[in-house]
Amino acid sequence: MSVMVERLNEASGETILKAIGIKRVFGRGHTAVTALADIHLSIPAGSMVALKGRSGSGKTTLLNILSTLDEPTEGQVFLRGREITGFSGAQRSALRRKEIGLVFQSFGLIPLMSAYENVEFGLRIAGTPVKGNREAAERALERVGMRERMKHRPMELSGGEQQRVAIARAIAHEPALLIADEPTAELDSKMGLQVIRVFRDLVNRSGMTIVMTTHDPGIMELADYVIALEDGKIVSQTTPESPVV
Ligand SMILES: Nc1ncnc2c1ncn2[C@@H]1O[C@H](COP(=O)(O)OP(=O)(O)OP(=O)(O)O)[C@@H](O)[C@H]1O
Ligand SMILES: [Mg+2]
Repeated sequence: MSVMVERLNEASGETILKAIGIKRVFGRGHTAVTALADIHLSIPAGSMVALKGRSGSGKTTLLNILSTLDEPTEGQVFLRGREITGFSGAQRSALRRKEIGLVFQSFGLIPLMSAYENVEFGLRIAGTPVKGNREAAERALERVGMRERMKHRPMELSGGEQQRVAIARAIAHEPALLIADEPTAELDSKMGLQVIRVFRDLVNRSGMTIVMTTHDPGIMELADYVIALEDGKIVSQTTPESPVV
């Protein structure tokens, strides 16, 4: 499907992320599983994209490939026009440290550290120069509305607040692209919505691009584009101009 490709180039000029002919096969021989096949997509900078599909449809596999955590069996991925498939492990992790933020279903915060320390530690292990880390961490916490509570440990925060801290950690290095695999799956719908509003705000105000997976129809409504996967293939795409496909 290449509907989005044309539309996007028209709409916003810049395509931040592009995938061409992605295929991912796990294992080999008669036990091989084709998790993705013939995936073409093009994501415009400054948009929020939701991937939906039944369990096992390939959402996580696709996100992992887009975020360089995994490599496709076939096909190419381009980030801002630069091909990233074929990068070495070291190149891929350098790219993630600079240009990509990752958020997962389980928040993954360190329990003994405060919200601030979690975010600052994230910057430190990513190897950013220590100078300016405090400001960057506080700015990120501010952007997710958690600055006031930055001295609290994860246990003293609600699930939604913990996920917001995890988002702050993911964006503290100011990546252009945020990839989130079911960021609201552990939250009730109210807290889930709060988290998505933070995403919306990041897209609207900072021009960040967010690609996430979700099972929640309420969340899909807040996305600019919804891509549906079925058995490893894209079966439909909705856009703001054509909400129903
Ligand atoms: N490392 C792996 N080895 C073998 N098969 C795998 C591996 N990872 C995923 N798969 C298979 O690939 C297919 C897609 O899995 P994936 O995790 O991408 O689905 P998903 O859409 O994210 O599902 P869910 O909604 O349950 O998270 C499934 O059939 C899965 O069993
Ligand atoms: Mg998944």
